[in-house]
Amino acid sequence: MEVVITADPAAAAGLAADAVEHVLVERDRPVLGLATGSSPLGIYRELIDRHRRSRLSFARARAYLLDEYVGLPPGHPEAYLTFIRRELTDQVDLPPDRLHGPDGAADDLAAAAAAYERAIADAGGIDLQLLGIGGDGHIGFNEPVSSFGSRTRIKTLTAATRRDNARFFGGDLDAVPRHVLTQGIGTILEARHLVLIATGEAKAEPIARAVEGPPTPGPSP
Ligand code: F6R
Repeated sequence: MEVVITADPAAAAGLAADAVEHVLVERDRPVLGLATGSSPLGIYRELIDRHRRSRLSFARARAYLLDEYVGLPPGHPEAYLTFIRRELTDQVDLPPDRLHGPDGAADDLAAAAAAYERAIADAGGIDLQLLGIGGDGHIGFNEPVSSFGSRTRIKTLTAATRRDNARFFGGDLDAVPRHVLTQGIGTILEARHLVLIATGEAKAEPIARAVEGPPTPGPSP
């Protein structure tokens, strides 16, 4: 693991964008793992800028989301597939049919989770996975104490994470879904390169625990 401390969030976003650019340029069929939430937004702005200025191309790429809310209708503005289209993929040349997320609107969520695992494996695995970290240390929506071997599955959000995410739903806690489909820790760890970006004071404690604490499936108490 390499910890890189930068002068400001823009510099961190630039370094993460460099890592994405490297994969896009070097791999014949690049496979990206994309996170949502506020942490990667600077990276996405930088990638869009590079696409516009220097024609950095996503045309050969395929992309997989980390997670998706359960129960939001397709096209809901806060569904993660809608979010990533708005914040990144509609503004670059990634073919729309090569953007994938877990199907949180499926009738059979366990089957949707298994299908998502198969889709990632069939793509040859993820070359580079972007990650954020929650205030309580969650990665994807693997809340603390998720197993290292966990795969894509249904998870119940903690009250703290729902409160954190209410800001995306106009502050309305009742509008925040209670369940998600998320890649598991085991799924995430199979990506060939993980880049986690954390900015701001609220992330200091979970990062300190993750970097300096003992390896546990969640922040140590
Ligand atoms: C998003 C995700 C979450 C977020 C985390 C931090 O796809 O899986 O783990 O990375 O909740 O969210 P922000 O970046 O909004 O602080």
